[in-house]
Amino acid sequence: MLSRRLNMDIEPNRLSLLLRRKQSADEKIIDLTVTNPTILGFKYNKKEILRAISDESSLTYITDSKGLLSARKDICNYYAGKDIKVDPESVFIVPGTSEAYSYIFKLLLDPDDEILVPQPCYPLFEFLASLDCGKVVYYPLMYDFKDGWMPDYKVINKLIGPRSKAIVIVNPNNPTGSYVRNEDAYKFNEICLKHDIAIISDEVFSDFTVEPNDNIFKTFAGNNKAMTFVLNGFSKLIALPQLKFGWIVVSGQATHLDEAIQKLEIITDTYLSIGTPVQLAAGRLFKTREDIQHRVCGKIIQCSKAGYF
Ligand SMILES: Cc1ncc(COP(=O)(O)O)c(C=O)c1O
Repeated sequence: MLSRRLNMDIEPNRLSLLLRRKQSADEKIIDLTVTNPTILGFKYNKKEILRAISDESSLTYITDSKGLLSARKDICNYYAGKDIKVDPESVFIVPGTSEAYSYIFKLLLDPDDEILVPQPCYPLFEFLASLDCGKVVYYPLMYDFKDGWMPDYKVINKLIGPRSKAIVIVNPNNPTGSYVRNEDAYKFNEICLKHDIAIISDEVFSDFTVEPNDNIFKTFAGNNKAMTFVLNGFSKLIALPQLKFGWIVVSGQATHLDEAIQKLEIITDTYLSIGTPVQLAAGRLFKTREDIQHRVCGKIIQCSKAGYF
């Protein structure tokens, strides 16, 4: 009766079983996998966040399939602050980056089409692709003692086949923390143009640079070469995942651009998933980001100095 999308091993693994046993025995557990920023003791600008989300205008339901224009303009202002021009018509507001992937997969994939994903990377892609009837093909990031983690382009070129639809780039990558360099951005564009496949650039951690350098490629937003989808959102940017506010910026050469934007709008219009209060609050919430990012980066530096990584 059930769909084959979730034909995967759903039994809890040994680690989950051990954790359950220890929890039920009330044993003390130090969980090094906690990634929920709101329970880690960071000081948030509570007053401003609460004031922002309690705007009375939220009591009126206004819909826009791409997200409220005012919030899309707030997103464009965020990029303008980085000297990048983004047109609000190319921005789609979504509940989070995970949903953004899902919408883009719906746009790009027919059943059994493939998405190239870096390895190592965080583990959600198998699920996201399966739920949209797609397949994940891993491309390796190689570690070099001098240059750090780098995509293996020879392997990437071999892995791209007739069913490939996009390459996911996570910049900086989770869990390696490695960045796309300017020359990588050039190469990814070249490869994707050659094979007529899209770049999906996940930039949720891009503001958390503790050691800036000129060779770090900052963003694919506004990339006018390969078809490009840039993903980001408040879950990481202002460390508030519960607000459920993310976005996609679409760009690229004209060939598929207008059609992609129109079809993505059909997808977002079908769901109209994003809440009004957070959209009205977006401009003010963006302003809280420097403070919390400073605190998170401070913690990263502190842990690094203490030798945790
Ligand atoms: C690299 C990366 N992208 C996306 C996500 C999902 O973020 P969101 O909360 O916006 O769905 C995560 C979550 O940990 C992540 O590590």
